[in-house]
Amino acid sequence: MDKQAKHRGLTRRAFVKAGMAALAAPYVVPRTVFGAAAPSNRISVALIGAGNQSRVDLPSMLRFDDVQVTAICDVNRGSYGYARPEHFLGREPVRDQVNKFYAEKTGNAEYRGCEAYADFRDVLARKDIDAVMVILPDHWHALVTVMACQAGKDVYCQKPMSLTVHDGQRMIQAVRKHERILQVGSQYRSNPVVRRVAELVRNGRIGQVQRAVAIVNDSGPGPGPGWEAMPVPDGFDYDMWLGPAPDAPYHIDRCLYRFRFHLDYSGGQVTNTGHHSNDIVQWVLGLDGTEAIEYEDLGSVWPPAGHLYTTAMKTAFRAKHANGIELICQTQDPGFGARFEGTDGWVQYSGNKIQASSDEILNSVIGDDEIRLPVSDNHYRNWLDCIKSRQEPIEPVEVGHSTANICHLGNIAMRLKRKVRWNPDTETFIDDDEANKMLRRPYRGPWVI
Ligand SMILES: NC(=O)c1ccc[n+]([C@@H]2O[C@H](COP(=O)([O-])OP(=O)(O)OC[C@H]3O[C@@H](n4cnc5c(N)ncnc54)[C@H](O)[C@@H]3O)[C@@H](O)[C@H]2O)c1
Repeated sequence: MDKQAKHRGLTRRAFVKAGMAALAAPYVVPRTVFGAAAPSNRISVALIGAGNQSRVDLPSMLRFDDVQVTAICDVNRGSYGYARPEHFLGREPVRDQVNKFYAEKTGNAEYRGCEAYADFRDVLARKDIDAVMVILPDHWHALVTVMACQAGKDVYCQKPMSLTVHDGQRMIQAVRKHERILQVGSQYRSNPVVRRVAELVRNGRIGQVQRAVAIVNDSGPGPGPGWEAMPVPDGFDYDMWLGPAPDAPYHIDRCLYRFRFHLDYSGGQVTNTGHHSNDIVQWVLGLDGTEAIEYEDLGSVWPPAGHLYTTAMKTAFRAKHANGIELICQTQDPGFGARFEGTDGWVQYSGNKIQASSDEILNSVIGDDEIRLPVSDNHYRNWLDCIKSRQEPIEPVEVGHSTANICHLGNIAMRLKRKVRWNPDTETFIDDDEANKMLRRPYRGPWVI
């Protein structure tokens, strides 16, 4: 292993450990964190991406009195065509929703304090905006995050943090260089039920862990052979939607919400619900900041030739950690969750409930002298508090990177249909040029990272 690579590997783990220690420390609130023009001590927040997930992220911001949502950015002016037929989303409807909320809250019917933008660079140029939420298709996460850090913004980046291993590395560099607070949108880190599972496992209630299962949903093949390109809808900047991704004919099932089922923009269910279940596994096993060292396909199922979608319909891969623990990531009932099997029993998280092999495990009390994990009961609040305190949030960039990497590496093994071996210190596959080429994607110009 070369010296620089070794240093990088240690730094990832070291950052995670130092960050977790800092979580327990008291807050100090420097006044300088607030934008010059932000009223008193409110954090001025912009949403970049006003689609499906903005329906959750926006109300989660509006409920806080120390936040003011001042900008909404989307390449879509406003349309149907999202995850559900009744959803009308995009920059104008979502901006109107924000202005209506503040008009009612302030009693000022003329309130127009939130503006709509089509180009995220105009948002980043606004000096009064302190922080941005990146709620974009995955192929945009890295570029917008890096540019936001350069512009001095703190970032809430939706999961999966990255599209490729290389993108994630650039995101870490940008966050650390510009000293930004980045929270990855893996909200199960802020879920007390998951924390309870983690504390049961970390304190040995199932004995020595042997196997973890990250449970992932299935997906379909999309439109079949003979699918035809569609005209780009009025008010939708398709070139800007594609951004760094390869040029491709427009189809509604390529873009809004369904982008997740195209390898050019995402990783399928492995990086969709799989980013959550693998993140739970990483946290519960205490493996943040590193990845498993071996990955192999277990019979993943892919769309038949000619279909529009290109991501696995059924996920199935096995990975092995350096400490011998086996990770299975697969499509199985109940569609989403995580299971841990040890020498003395098992415990499973799904449906926001815990199941275990015995009542003794389920009812077990964690003593004061045992391992207790950092407490965050609201993922958004944790980000905002960290913006003020300048301390590490519950899912910092290095943690999101290793979780996203597990998903990317599993996807690569499933695509190659063979075993691949990984060196987490150098972040390269061992003696495998074909696999190493899949660690990054070329960016379509003029976009560069
Ligand atoms: N944490 C969670 O539980 C959770 C749940 C759902 C989605 N997500 C994540 O949120 C992200 C967005 O997913 P979604 O379901 O909202 O997708 P979506 O397609 O419904 O919304 C994305 C929006 O981004 C816009 N957009 C695309 N490129 C843009 C650009 N360059 N500038 C401005 N706007 C642009 C699109 O027009 C669209 O309105 C994904 O990364 C997804 O994984 C997280």
